[in-house]
Amino acid sequence: MSLFADEPPWHFDLTPGAVVLHRFARREALALLETITSVASQAPFRHLVTPGGQTMSVAMTNCGKKGWHSDGHGYRYTSQDPLSGKPWPDMPGNLLLLARLAAQEAGYSDFHPDACLINRYVPGARLSLHQDKDEQDRAAPIVSVSLGLPAVFQFGGATRQSAVQRVLLEHGDVVVWGGPSRLFYHGVLALKEGFHPDTGAIRYNLTFRKTC
Ligand code: SIN
Ligand code: FE2
Repeated sequence: MSLFADEPPWHFDLTPGAVVLHRFARREALALLETITSVASQAPFRHLVTPGGQTMSVAMTNCGKKGWHSDGHGYRYTSQDPLSGKPWPDMPGNLLLLARLAAQEAGYSDFHPDACLINRYVPGARLSLHQDKDEQDRAAPIVSVSLGLPAVFQFGGATRQSAVQRVLLEHGDVVVWGGPSRLFYHGVLALKEGFHPDTGAIRYNLTFRKTC
């Protein structure tokens, strides 16, 4: 226990390369939620379909130079929103700065994300165990920021069969994984019903990625 254990952020090491920074983004949370509203007014949330034909329970949109997309042809990053044909909304400076500072706090200096995937969960929505492996740059970490309702995040290992750790991610919590854990399996259990003063019955998650 550190002397300053009651001061955010609390660091929790999941495994080498992966750390939870509890409350790291809490001060910025309202500004981040405003940004999400603005991004969604240009590139609306949508339920993507996996290559296997399943409609995802999590709704998604993106900002940044690249955005993640999935359909019958596979998973990939695109420069335009396939719904509108327009470039994805810009990644605002406050998001970029937050992602850079979180990466630095976790030991990854000089993080330059070019994509921010925004996930929206309503009660019951979940994300099954998966690897983030559509990015060409595997040297850069993934920075994940949680807002609104709490969710149980699962963090496993190099294979789908690896044991998983479960951590509750609350408003303003950040997870960073990279280095030896960059390709580790992770997911989110079905969101429980609830009410958050800033988001109502919703959880948002932002993941910052360097795609190429
Ligand atoms: C993700 O794996 O892309 C998102 C994780 C989360 O919503 O916490
Ligand atoms: Fe992921």
